[in-house]
Amino acid sequence: MTEPAVLFVCLGNICRSPLAEAAFRHEAALAGLNVLTDSAGTADYHVGEAPDPRAIRTAARFDIDISGYRGRQVSAADFARFTHIFAADHANLGKLERIAPAGHGARLALLLDLVPGRAGEALADPWYGEEEGFHATWADVTAAARALVEELKGER
Ligand code: 4NP
Repeated sequence: MTEPAVLFVCLGNICRSPLAEAAFRHEAALAGLNVLTDSAGTADYHVGEAPDPRAIRTAARFDIDISGYRGRQVSAADFARFTHIFAADHANLGKLERIAPAGHGARLALLLDLVPGRAGEALADPWYGEEEGFHATWADVTAAARALVEELKGER
């Protein structure tokens, strides 16, 4: 079986997908899974930038340091590197579908499709709101991360 490699994708790669990456790295480490993990944005607005300070503080509440993460834009080449690509919302899923090379083998889905009872739901964008929104994002990405870890453990 191909080793899994997981990419989380949102718009800016400074709020939702870095938190999804951090939560998944954390849950995978707890489970003893060694999985190539990254995140990216469909937009280039924040390439090279650290995550939003509210996202950094949210992860830090769980002793997870994401201040060294840097924004990057997703590209068609990611479909060859990653076996699993999860989009934060429908707009980003649509953009990924448009750049995906024909015949790519990656599993492309919404992140919350991983969470029982939440298939088809978007991960809410906390960018315009208060810091509490980032706490809700953390809860959602942690639920998705735990579900994905369970799935990957089963395939091991
Ligand atoms: P993200 O949040 O996609 O979760 O990283 C956003 C970050 C930046 C912008 C919008 C959403 N922006 O418009 O710059």
